[in-house]
This record gives sequence, structure tokens and C-alpha cells, in this order.
Amino acid sequence: MKIQDFAKKKQNREKISMVTCYDHWTAQILSETEVDCLLVGDSLAVVMHGFDSTVHATTEMMELHTAAVARGAGDKFIVADMPFLSCSKGLPYAMETVHRLMAAGAHAVKIEGDTHQLEVIRHIVDAGVPVMGHLGLTPQSIHNLGGHKVQGKDEARAAQIIDSARKLEAAGCFSLVLECVPTKLGGCVSAAVGIPTIGIGAGPNTDGQVLVLQDLLGVNPNFKPKFLRHYAAGYNVVGDAVNHYHSDVVTGEFPALVESYR
Ligand code: KIV
Repeated sequence: MKIQDFAKKKQNREKISMVTCYDHWTAQILSETEVDCLLVGDSLAVVMHGFDSTVHATTEMMELHTAAVARGAGDKFIVADMPFLSCSKGLPYAMETVHRLMAAGAHAVKIEGDTHQLEVIRHIVDAGVPVMGHLGLTPQSIHNLGGHKVQGKDEARAAQIIDSARKLEAAGCFSLVLECVPTKLGGCVSAAVGIPTIGIGAGPNTDGQVLVLQDLLGVNPNFKPKFLRHYAAGYNVVGDAVNHYHSDVVTGEFPALVESYR
């Protein structure tokens, strides 16, 4: 998928699929799948590093994980998250961060937030770098939002989100993530803008969907928010394989002669 295909898919009413990817071996597997694009999300701070929020993702982390993904992702389109506050420390700081993520192998950056990001978005787009917006529940603002709550439930806030989506499109975003909003609002935003919306917890009427890979693989069976579908019992698959290996080692079943050098 190339940048132009995002607009084409919206025009042709073809849905866009995106999953997160944080490391090289996963990128190699995903490069052989039909998924449209990969997101090196700042959720890696939580999923890969065990922090309690994406606020802890740093530019160094994003750069390192983006480079690892890019080395395995083949021709998949890679979007990398601009980390917490990187767009609010002035244009030079933002551009330096963009530079590092693009040099690491990203094809676009994703920026969370509302209209206060418009100036920096325009600047990055004018510099030739594709920008994906992110509205609704923006986890970098979790302390301001008071937790992981559905956004845009009342009319005033819903209207604000629609207005912000239009402004992000006008600023040059090629697409936007819409996180945790009511289904009706997901459809309204998607109809209000010409760029594709990629939803997570935003219902079926967005132009595409994104999930955290580990969530869809079910590696944490206790994490099951309403919007999530487990496509595998990843926790059991990994645990059973490792227990099987352990038992083969202690019984002497592994390695067999065919797995040994003469
Ligand atoms: O960081 C991330 O994984 C994201 C998705 C939830 C869209 O931004």
C-alpha cells in the first residue's frame, strides 16, 4: 500500500486494515499477510515495556522500534507515532523527531490531538512528510481525560470532534485514527471528511480499523474491552508451546538424534 491508496480505498469504499507492530520478527510475519499497513504505536510503552501509559514512550524508543519494524516489514506502509509532547515543544523539536522516525524507516507519522496541533501538522506536511491525525480518545492526554472513556457522547463534544476532523483534513492529514467514540459519531466523522478514518472502538462505519496486535492475538486474556475481538488464544498458544518444550527437555525427548550434529 502506498500513500495514494488511502484516498483510493476511501473513494472505492474499500476498508483499510491496520495493526500495531513493534519488532522485527513480528514485522516479518506481518509482511507476508494481507494487512494493509502497520502502526509503530506509542502503545509499545505499555505492551513492550510494561509502563502504565503511553506517556512513557520516548523518541529513542519510537526510533529503535520503528527501525526494527522497517527492517522486517517488506513493502508494508509504516506509520510511527510522534511521542508524548514531541509536537508541543516547538517546531524545531517536532521536526527533529519527525526526522528521526522517518530516517528509521517510517513512511508517515501519527499525531494525537486536536486543533492545537494544526500549525505543526501543516509544517510537517509542507516538508513532505505524510501525517495521520488521531482524535477521540487520545491516550497521551489520559490524565486530562480522566481515564479510558468513550469520547464525544454529548452533542457539543461530538460536534467538536467533527469540526477537528475537518480541520485536520484541511491542515493536510492524509488519514485519521478515531478512537473510542460512539458508533454514530464514527460514521458522522467518516462522512464529514474526504480522508479515510481508521477506527478503534469507533464502530463499523469508519473507513478502516486498527487494533493492537497483541490484543487481537489474545495474549492477555483478561484484557477484553467491548471493542476488542480475540482472533487467537495467544496466551495459551505461547504458554502451551513453552510447557511442551519444557516437558520434552526434562524427559529427554528434546533434542532427538535428528536434531543433533554427528
Ligand atoms: O499507539 C497505538 O497503538 C495507537 C492505536 C491504539 C491506534 O495509537
